Amino acid sequence: MEQFESFLVEHLPSAASFHPHYELSLHQMLISGGKRFRPALLLGVVRAYNPLLTQSAYHAAFAIELLHTYSLIHDDLPSMDNADLRRGILTLHKTYDETTAVLAGDALNTYAFEVLSNAPLSDRVIVKLVRSLAHNGGLNGMVLGQAIDCYFENQRLELDQVKMLHIHKTGKLIAASLQMGAMIVGRDDIADELYDFGIDLGLLFQIQDDILDVTQDEVKAGKTTNNDESKNSFVTLLGFDSAMREADTLAKKITKRMESFDENLQCELSPTLNHYINRHKD
Ligand code: IPE
Ligand code: IPE
Ligand code: MG
Ligand code: MG
Ligand code: MG
Repeated sequence: MEQFESFLVEHLPSAASFHPHYELSLHQMLISGGKRFRPALLLGVVRAYNPLLTQSAYHAAFAIELLHTYSLIHDDLPSMDNADLRRGILTLHKTYDETTAVLAGDALNTYAFEVLSNAPLSDRVIVKLVRSLAHNGGLNGMVLGQAIDCYFENQRLELDQVKMLHIHKTGKLIAASLQMGAMIVGRDDIADELYDFGIDLGLLFQIQDDILDVTQDEVKAGKTTNNDESKNSFVTLLGFDSAMREADTLAKKITKRMESFDENLQCELSPTLNHYINRHKD
């Protein structure tokens, strides 16, 4: 992942102008860390099936990270989760103002597709990648999840509805990361299976995030926590113990499912997955 970080720094959005902080605001959240979970998944699939394509895949991994980062910037806005801290630093609307944060998010969202369109891959593959990222990050993916999350604050949803919400706001982009990896290496035959697996993994990731919201302080999490009281989180819905049990069950299911993967894929994905699969117990 070190090389991916260098790629990211070399390809930061450049927008020189007489605006005092526009360009800086685009860089701030990208260079302040973040687990890079989605890039690691995409690159893991690529390394498993065609390591020679790793460099070319950095564009796609970065595109996902850009879209994800934009989603976080908007997620923290006062009109959404109203959070002051992200990736260990002040959120953009706190550092600057809401206008800057909204526009930085807009710019990173579209820059994601610009980066993807410049990938040294065939046009045919690039179109597939654009479709997956737009579909899963956009109107029927992450954005729909966020819309439901925010609209139903203070209104209790059913468990199935919360799962649907979590799958959209978080699961689909995680699923797309694995699917895009398969597309890059020309393994469309396993793309659906990986996508399905990614939906479960993404659901687990968000349930864990709901748990960490109550167990971690903002220093440990690097972001505002104890912020989900009015949300339909797994913890507010089920209570802490049941949320933990749900996470344990899903983590076991995911581990089991991974055992059916090709050995090289297990090998490449397991460092990332082993690191995160029990993070709700941290
Ligand atoms: C946070 O995502 C928002 C969720 C979807 C849970 P991450 O936990 O991946 O945040 P970073 O990228 O590490 O900052
Ligand atoms: C946000 O979920 C998921 C996104 C699409 C950004 P959360 O609101 O739970 O994410 P955090 O806890 O602020 O990182
Ligand atoms: Mg949110
Ligand atoms: Mg939030
Ligand atoms: Mg959260």
